[in-house]
Amino acid sequence: MSSTRISARMRRIKPSPSSAAADRFAELRRQGKDIINLAIGEPDFDTPAHIRQAAGAAIERGETRYTPVAGTLALRQAIAAKLQRENGLDYAPRDIIVTCGAKHALFNALSVTVEAGHEVIVPAPFWVSYPDMVLACDGTPVIVACREEDDFRLTPQALEAAITPATRWLVFNSPTNPTGTTYTTAQLRALADVLLRHPQVMVLADDIYEHIRFGDAPKPQHVLVIEPALRERTLVVNGVSKTYAMTGWRIGYAAGPADIIAAMDMLQSQSTSGASSVSQAAAVTALNTEAGFLPGWVATYEQRRDTAVRLLNQIPGLRCAAPGGAFYLYPWCGGLIGRRTPQGKVIESDVDAVIYLLEAGGVMLLAGTAYGVAPYFRMSIATGVEQIEEGCRRIAQAVAQLA
Ligand SMILES: Cc1ncc(COP(=O)(O)O)c(C=O)c1O
Repeated sequence: MSSTRISARMRRIKPSPSSAAADRFAELRRQGKDIINLAIGEPDFDTPAHIRQAAGAAIERGETRYTPVAGTLALRQAIAAKLQRENGLDYAPRDIIVTCGAKHALFNALSVTVEAGHEVIVPAPFWVSYPDMVLACDGTPVIVACREEDDFRLTPQALEAAITPATRWLVFNSPTNPTGTTYTTAQLRALADVLLRHPQVMVLADDIYEHIRFGDAPKPQHVLVIEPALRERTLVVNGVSKTYAMTGWRIGYAAGPADIIAAMDMLQSQSTSGASSVSQAAAVTALNTEAGFLPGWVATYEQRRDTAVRLLNQIPGLRCAAPGGAFYLYPWCGGLIGRRTPQGKVIESDVDAVIYLLEAGGVMLLAGTAYGVAPYFRMSIATGVEQIEEGCRRIAQAVAQLA
């Protein structure tokens, strides 16, 4: 097949490593291999029963037809109420668009605003899709490496240094995938102060992990509550995937300035149309019902985090801080670099380390290289504590075999 049939824009991007890992895991399982999968990017809980029942009821009521492109009014009202109640943000249903997952909202937002020559600041470690989405929209991702000493936080100095006249967006995700990094209100204030000096920079706020936070630290105010002057250049992106364990339902949303929402609506009208009617009905119930299950889920993630951090720090060559949120750990694995496997291969990168741990240990992890800061790996805690304990035992055993 001629490679020139595929557009330059598509030839610039690569498949999502987490989706590739999921495919590889399924393949290894088919081959009968015993693999502990710590590469999972979704809650291991089931969608709560009352939400599933709402979907069933919607089907029975005949809510099986096209919805408005921007989503049903009921869902946009539920999202507006959620943004008011949980985030202190005042958006009307007309300021909101429902999308097929938060990923779709991010992609469409970039599609309608980014052109060749535009720069998009992506703090690293980053969620793997951001840079490739920017490339797919002909833009230039500007990767800003954040340091482990700063808990992988974007500092105001690093933000200031990355901004140029060509900067279009800052992509800001917190709690962050893959590091679980959280920010205090004061830290967000300091970033907002930088942004105020650069009116050309818009903010793509990816709040998808907002409810998965550990410890007693108060939830910070939303950056738009801290600095309302940023509202006209901020797009708030969120969804029901992580909070309500609804990854397969594919409901996300964006709230923001009228011109961006209108352009996203137009793009969606000529591409995907509205999201699934049944999923939208389920999302209305999710957002309009008290999430009584959530504190228990978060406590479970936190216990797993504590177990995993303790076990990883007992393994020579690894170092792992306890993240403030989301459901991933991002341990440093620099102590494995330069060591030799029993087969005589030298581990030269976190990619090699992750391949070795899969082949010798039967543990699936994702290499930090894919997330923009090496040598680290991403380990998911969205799986049972027994799996986490067994995974860490296998990692320890495989590491002990390195010369
Ligand atoms: C940071 C971040 N944003 C967005 C998404 C996508 O969410 P959705 O499943 O709603 O498309 C993910 C999923 O892994 C994520 O980690």
